[in-house]
Amino acid sequence: MTQQPMIEIRNVWKEYGNNIVLERLNKTVHQGEFISIVGASGCGKTTFLNLLLGTEQHSRGDILLDGQPLRREPGTERGIVFQKYSVFPHLSALENVMIGLEFESGSLTSKLFGRNAGQKKQQARQKARDMLAQVGLSHAEDQYPHQLSGGMRQRLSIAQSLVKQPRILLLDEPFGALDPGIRKDMHTLIRRLWQEQQLTVFMITHDLSEGFHLGSRIWVFDQPRVDPQAPERYGAQITFDIPLDKQTLNQPDLLSSLNQTLQPTESATAGSV
Ligand SMILES: Nc1ncnc2c1ncn2[C@@H]1O[C@H](COP(=O)(O)OP(=O)(O)OP(=O)(O)O)[C@@H](O)[C@H]1O
Ligand SMILES: [Mg+2]
Repeated sequence: MTQQPMIEIRNVWKEYGNNIVLERLNKTVHQGEFISIVGASGCGKTTFLNLLLGTEQHSRGDILLDGQPLRREPGTERGIVFQKYSVFPHLSALENVMIGLEFESGSLTSKLFGRNAGQKKQQARQKARDMLAQVGLSHAEDQYPHQLSGGMRQRLSIAQSLVKQPRILLLDEPFGALDPGIRKDMHTLIRRLWQEQQLTVFMITHDLSEGFHLGSRIWVFDQPRVDPQAPERYGAQITFDIPLDKQTLNQPDLLSSLNQTLQPTESATAGSV
């Protein structure tokens, strides 16, 4: 790829007090990549997404977006979907998607009561409807979250995030709470949205095969050095960075050897707690 990298991560560290969570992260990501992130529980994967989102600040190093330091607060170019749906229970599906657009302007009241309020609200409603159609929820526009299944709520979260047309989509175990059959439908959906909207995606998963199936690249977060007396002394790094091209996917042993790589780390972490 010859184009300028979209995201550059240069010697990034994240510390909470004395606790070094992440250390020495150096990565380059191009637009359109789909990065699957795996790693033991507690090793700093969510923290890493929070750095990209802007809700947490890195302690050292640089994160560049299009060659410029990442803005230190969440912006509309970055959207996030969590494992547990983040939708508002007292709003209908349509209102839940519309509210994303209303917050985007930074002023809910000016949109609702300002001069062009009627027209703007109409446009927002149409945009939200289109987005709901894309995630297959047209029939549920007027339903409230408690009336939706887990899969439907997760579709709603995705719609809420994508209606703002982010360039980067951050997914934190988005399908972890769903049944296997529903997960498969969600995989198809997310792959389609990724391609159609030319998104750059970072997805944390505990399911290695899901990471392989969806991603164009997989990162393994792991702590190469562990001090059992002082677990906070060393942070996690990205120890594997594997392009998921045809050649890689044709290596039948790769998935199982990576699985093994993840196993000892998990037991070591559990043992040191
Ligand atoms: N706001 C915070 N203040 C202090 N420490 C924090 C904070 N957020 C996370 N940590 C610490 O950072 C470490 C990594 O947490 P993080 O949630 O990123 O892990 P994770 O890899 O996402 O785990 P899981 O797979 O269980 O979701 C943990 O030791 C956690 O205690
Ligand atoms: Mg997490």
